[in-house]
Amino acid sequence: MNIYETAKLREEYLLFHYGTPEQICSWPGRPREALGFPARIVERFSGGEVARALDLGCAVGRSAFELSRTAAEVVAIDYSQAFVDAGKTMQAAGRCEVSRLEEAHRRQSIMVEVPAGTRPGRITFERGDAMNLRAELGGFDRVLAANLLCRLSEPGRLLVRLPELVKSGGELILTTPCTWLEEFTPEAHWPPGSTLDWLKSELSARFELLEEHDEPFLIRETARKFQWTVALLTKWRRR
Ligand SMILES: C[S@@+](CC[C@H](N)C(=O)[O-])C[C@H]1O[C@@H](n2cnc3c(N)ncnc32)[C@H](O)[C@@H]1O
Repeated sequence: MNIYETAKLREEYLLFHYGTPEQICSWPGRPREALGFPARIVERFSGGEVARALDLGCAVGRSAFELSRTAAEVVAIDYSQAFVDAGKTMQAAGRCEVSRLEEAHRRQSIMVEVPAGTRPGRITFERGDAMNLRAELGGFDRVLAANLLCRLSEPGRLLVRLPELVKSGGELILTTPCTWLEEFTPEAHWPPGSTLDWLKSELSARFELLEEHDEPFLIRETARKFQWTVALLTKWRRR
């Protein structure tokens, strides 16, 4: 079973991507710096308008909406049909009802909305496999793959495709919580040492590493339980 097709994950990700800070976590002492992850990571791209952007493993699409502020065309791809459909709903309606789990059988219906200033008409959502992308995707000025690598069975298959996906001079942002798990990735395909060293050895011939830093994020499971995770972000320029 693909957990990303479940209603549980759909609701959690709609809230994670589009929820207001109060909808996600109103407890005093909440980790404020962990909120807004899907928008924050897009802000790490260099400024200016570009022609094409790609969001791989886009889930329910928030980063794709953020990319649409400055990219004339955004392609957003995810393997989960439920997530792609949720992204399309946000695109068509501008909003979506989320059945937020409070505890046990208690749920609360809340509304999440597409952020102001984004350009939904520039986005194409499609279902696809990041390890086997269609041949005619073309090249992009910005490619984002957020928290995708350690969810792939063979992440190396995406890494070898990246030089073709990013135009010369274009930028690539990878984030990963480095949570390598057998249920997603057979151990034989885990990095042999640190994830950062592995990315450097796989990408440095075709990409220049521009920056690396840590980006926390918060996913709400119930009113009282949250996943606080720190992703490693690396930003690269295609040689
Ligand atoms: C941990 S989530 C991250 C989602 C989103 N980028 C974010 O940062 O919130 C991993 C995403 O990768 C997607 N995914 C898993 N395997 C994939 C594959 N082979 N091709 C494309 N997407 C995939 C899942 O459906 C899920 O949306």
